[in-house]
Amino acid sequence: MDVHVLVPAAGSGSRIGGDTRKQYLELGDRPVLVQTLLRLAGLPQVTAIHLVVPAADIAFCRTELVDHYRLDKIGAVIAGGAERQDSVRNGLESCGAADQDVILVHDGVRPFFPKDRIGLLVQRAAVEGAALLAVPAQDTIKEVFDGRVRSTLDRRLLWQVQTPQAFRCDRIREAHRRAYAGGYAGTDDASLIEWCGWPVAVLPGDPHNFKITTPADLALARALLAAGEVSLT
Ligand code: C5P
Repeated sequence: MDVHVLVPAAGSGSRIGGDTRKQYLELGDRPVLVQTLLRLAGLPQVTAIHLVVPAADIAFCRTELVDHYRLDKIGAVIAGGAERQDSVRNGLESCGAADQDVILVHDGVRPFFPKDRIGLLVQRAAVEGAALLAVPAQDTIKEVFDGRVRSTLDRRLLWQVQTPQAFRCDRIREAHRRAYAGGYAGTDDASLIEWCGWPVAVLPGDPHNFKITTPADLALARALLAAGEVSLT
């Protein structure tokens, strides 16, 4: 059984060579996406990492990211689609993973994922079909409609999910095919598995595994690094 990682990074914003896209913000002298890819490549479990980027950026990614930073274990560089779900589906269809392999789907903007949980995550996905990392919700979460509170959700049942999310390849490919055929759009990949009625195991994530998407996130990431609270290796 091989373990493949799919990194969707085909968001429509400015071109990859521009200076505004979040995954190209610099953290520790390298773009956040590159830091994430280097850390993924260091995982002993990982066989290959496939990058999904805008079609127009494939050549740029090969030379300026993969070659320039000597990224290891990069397999395919795949053209993304209109929405994140389309990009992941394209990646699943083109990455060459076998049905029994495990696929990790991971945001390129989460460089602080907990390396010590990956072995268990892969194991649970191989056995149960799907597994993800999550942390209990810290804030009270309310359903709001038209500027007014409609209900207060029971916080004891609420978890914030992170990536990597891990899947047996046959399961996640089939879930994406069914969702595409049925017109279902989920906000993460596990939700497509749930939509098919299949189980998803939940493992403890790490509060430091946050998405670096705003200048405030970047400032927090830099402060945590400076304080030695997180590491990029
Ligand atoms: O925009 P958002 O934060 O939801 O994007 C999540 C991830 O999905 C980003 O890494 C982004 O590049 C990726 N994405 C993609 N293809 C799209 C849209 C988003 O790969 N069409």
